[in-house]
Amino acid sequence: MEKIVIEGGMPLSGEVSVSVSKNSILPLMAASILSAGESTFADVPDLMDVRVMAGILDELGADVAMDGNALSIDTAAMDKWVTAYDMVKKMRASVLTLGPLTARFGKARVSLPGGCSIGERPIDQHLKGLEMLGAKIKMESGYVETSAEKLSGTVVPLDMPTVTGTENIILAAVLAEGETVIYNAACEPEVAELAGALGKMGADIRGGGTDIIRIKGVSSLRPLKNYRAIPDRIEAGTLMTAVAAAGGDVVIKECGFDHLGALAGKLMRAGVEVEETVSGVRIKSNGRFECTDIATLPYPGFPTDMQAQFMALMCAGNGVSIVTENIFPQRFMHAAELKRMGADIKLVGNTAVIRGVETLKGAQTMASDLRAGAALVVAGAAAHGRTEISRVYHLDRGYEKLDVKLEALGARVWREKQ
Ligand code: EPZ
Repeated sequence: MEKIVIEGGMPLSGEVSVSVSKNSILPLMAASILSAGESTFADVPDLMDVRVMAGILDELGADVAMDGNALSIDTAAMDKWVTAYDMVKKMRASVLTLGPLTARFGKARVSLPGGCSIGERPIDQHLKGLEMLGAKIKMESGYVETSAEKLSGTVVPLDMPTVTGTENIILAAVLAEGETVIYNAACEPEVAELAGALGKMGADIRGGGTDIIRIKGVSSLRPLKNYRAIPDRIEAGTLMTAVAAAGGDVVIKECGFDHLGALAGKLMRAGVEVEETVSGVRIKSNGRFECTDIATLPYPGFPTDMQAQFMALMCAGNGVSIVTENIFPQRFMHAAELKRMGADIKLVGNTAVIRGVETLKGAQTMASDLRAGAALVVAGAAAHGRTEISRVYHLDRGYEKLDVKLEALGARVWREKQ
């Protein structure tokens, strides 16, 4: 086991490139199930979650090969439709195999995702959508089983704009007979990208990235070739927050400013300079800033995946910040760790009240999930003294060499054996 060590207080400077989006590449890998052939992807980040999804596809009978950041998935010989518990418990996004397996084989057996540190993770909307498309759903010893003679297009009104729920229904509907219209669909850029990529595969799909998505089923799809997904907006946001907290002047390349509006606006309110440049986003900060309130919402609202990192920033701000978590109300495991660093945080239900302190102090801390770990990196970069972050495997699930990227910007950060 490894830990990350940070001697904080160093201002950051230079340029950094963002890796391809984890939450884009995972549904795109699941989409490869829909076309019996070889799909290839470029610049795929080397993440634990990508390896888990590759493992799942391998177990389903696909021929998966990763050569550096090039990924190929040949699903021609795929002949299984079971995604086992030991895979789903590692990564909830494994549930994204449910829709495409049902579309390709007329059946699927996927383990129900357990809970995780950010709360219960139900999939009732996924199942409701598949049922409306004509699948029979059976729950059996922790697994969900679907069976469908055929899938038929229909109207699917979602009760909430679930990201992977929208993606699963799209992945099932593209090969269904007739038209499917999803209402109250998730509008995240990753959903828009999946819809665009399926269009390249021959799907007839309109409205991806909006709350109404229209899909006309087609008989077959062709594989994606040398596809490069969008940059990871949450990694970009994490880097922006680290620069704001530690101070400095950094250009974050290849990050879509237009996918980061809610965060950029809040950073500007806090007094951090955020400027769109021709190659990305420039962040300038003197390490001092005003506390400001945030409330997480579905896209384009403030992303829940940036809540922990922004809380870490607010801990050393001037004033008081109210953080309201509307997506995963229990997503505050990072608060206790930040308090070990001297933060003044009070939790009341799905709200955290943060009173800014002069500075955070380095401490031994523990990552409880991917974004909580990122929050500790942000806090450690700004804190005075040495911060250690254990269980760094959480971070490696969704960030490609985040510590290496920060070190290249001047942070004193390294890894040690636990
Ligand atoms: C996706 O998870 C992301 N993961 C999450 O990122 C992200 O936090 C989340 O969307 C919200 O933006 C991937 O894209 C792989 P949801 P997802 O379904 O799809 C409730 C990260 O750190 N809900 O949009 O699982 C649910 O409980 C991860 O990269 C139902 O009630 O999230 C939550 O309150 C963490 N029933 C809300 O909807 C359902 O059937 C939003 O969840 C589905 C969801």
